[in-house]
Amino acid sequence: MQLSDLLEKVKSLSPLPPVVMKALRLIREEAPVSRLQSVISNDPSLTAKILRLANSAYYGLPRRVETLSEAIVVLGMDTLRNVLLAAAAYHTMGRAAQGYMLKEGELWIHSVFAAYIADNVFLKLLKRKGEFAERVKSSHAGISRLEEMVYLAALLHDIGKVALSDFMEDSLQTVKEKLALGENFLEVEKEVTGFSHPEAGAVVMEAWNFPDVYKETIGAHHNPSLLKNDALLIAAVVHAADMTSVKGGVGTGIDGMYYEWDFGSLEEVGISQDILEESLFETMPFIEDLEEFVAMGLER
Ligand SMILES: [Fe+2]
Ligand SMILES: [Fe+2]
Repeated sequence: MQLSDLLEKVKSLSPLPPVVMKALRLIREEAPVSRLQSVISNDPSLTAKILRLANSAYYGLPRRVETLSEAIVVLGMDTLRNVLLAAAAYHTMGRAAQGYMLKEGELWIHSVFAAYIADNVFLKLLKRKGEFAERVKSSHAGISRLEEMVYLAALLHDIGKVALSDFMEDSLQTVKEKLALGENFLEVEKEVTGFSHPEAGAVVMEAWNFPDVYKETIGAHHNPSLLKNDALLIAAVVHAADMTSVKGGVGTGIDGMYYEWDFGSLEEVGISQDILEESLFETMPFIEDLEEFVAMGLER
């Protein structure tokens, strides 16, 4: 497949809606709750999803929130931003990806779960005050922006699969045979479609005019060692979160365990195995909520 075929396919994927982009900007500008609320409530289906997710056990709210403004006040801006992004990503990441043997909702669960772990790891590493925390503090982006980038990159890391799925589906038998021979999954994708899913993901980010950091980190989420500076930091957390979620058996399809760890990148920024195990342990109980969310059959 040529780049032009891939770009044609990417056109059929809808990016995060303008409402979400506007809400993100308002959050960054610390706009008043009322403005944020009026922007988001223009999209009733998104609002319903936000409320459902906000009330899931993961956020541990002391009481149920029934309205958007309550959710904003009780969750706080940083958390609301995460809920908003997970809810908005359902539209694209919630699709079935037959070429990867993923049923409707499975890739979204994998993605949100990876984002949960990524955020958990990010916050833990900050607290531990090691190499990672030093790098975060010396970054020009600032802690809140970096946290946002880690979360969003983790949420969209496999978006390339959505773009490649149909092409993979056409050659599923060949894919299975190659995997059975022990070939690396990323190479199989490339042989079969012309692109690996990280490469395809970078193409999607470019087509959607996302900042370069997403193109770089999503493009290297299986080998973050290739990157430097903030991009390395973000991609290393995303890689660790992705692999940890695969290890937890969450939302894996035909690719299952056919990946290798990029341990060098984890070492370079100071992400240890015990942190990852702790994070998996802490986030694992919330997978059920995500499964329930999908089972509700909300419109994508
Ligand atoms: Fe991946
Ligand atoms: Fe993944």
